[in-house]
Amino acid sequence: MRDMPGVAPLPPAASILQAPTPPAWVDEAVRRWPELLLDHANCEKKAASTALALLFAYPEDRPLALSLARVAREELRHFEQVVKVMTALGVAFARQRPGRYAHALRGALRTSEPGRKLDLLLMSALIEARSAERFALLAPRLPAPLARLYEDLGTAEARHHELYVRFARGLAPAHWQARLQALAVREAELVTSPDRTLRFHSGPPETPT
Ligand SMILES: [Fe+2]
Ligand SMILES: [Fe+2]
Repeated sequence: MRDMPGVAPLPPAASILQAPTPPAWVDEAVRRWPELLLDHANCEKKAASTALALLFAYPEDRPLALSLARVAREELRHFEQVVKVMTALGVAFARQRPGRYAHALRGALRTSEPGRKLDLLLMSALIEARSAERFALLAPRLPAPLARLYEDLGTAEARHHELYVRFARGLAPAHWQARLQALAVREAELVTSPDRTLRFHSGPPETPT
């Protein structure tokens, strides 16, 4: 998406994040990449599902609905790509307990309109921005074909971040930045504080195993 003339350019993905991913998370994620890959497959499914849920929640917003339909398809395509790589690398499917990130982040959202729509868009923007940041950190440290996949997905998730920010800005031109900042502080706490479970959006592990 291009910026509109006379409107301030959108911030790049990493700059909406209030804290960088701790090196301890990256080290552990590289070491335990098969486990992370499994969670990553789930993340792609969840990203598609979140886009669809927004589409159902705000059907009257046609530009948003059309963009979300495209995002949902793209996220499902990412899921297929991850499963293909899992198969190539011999990573078997296993059920995993969800991490704390998405649930805790959702807990910070407003529950009634008009605030809820803005919060949902900003939450998605933050998740996409964090995904893009982590793919960029992981790609140089992982073997092919994972490195190449993560480079490609990082670019796509950064684009999704921009899309969600653009709709948030259009919805609440005077308020979106302050609200983004508040939610980004919570998001940063969740990815930087010690976490019991290693996941794609978790904090660094409490005790490395
Ligand atoms: Fe994705
Ligand atoms: Fe995405």
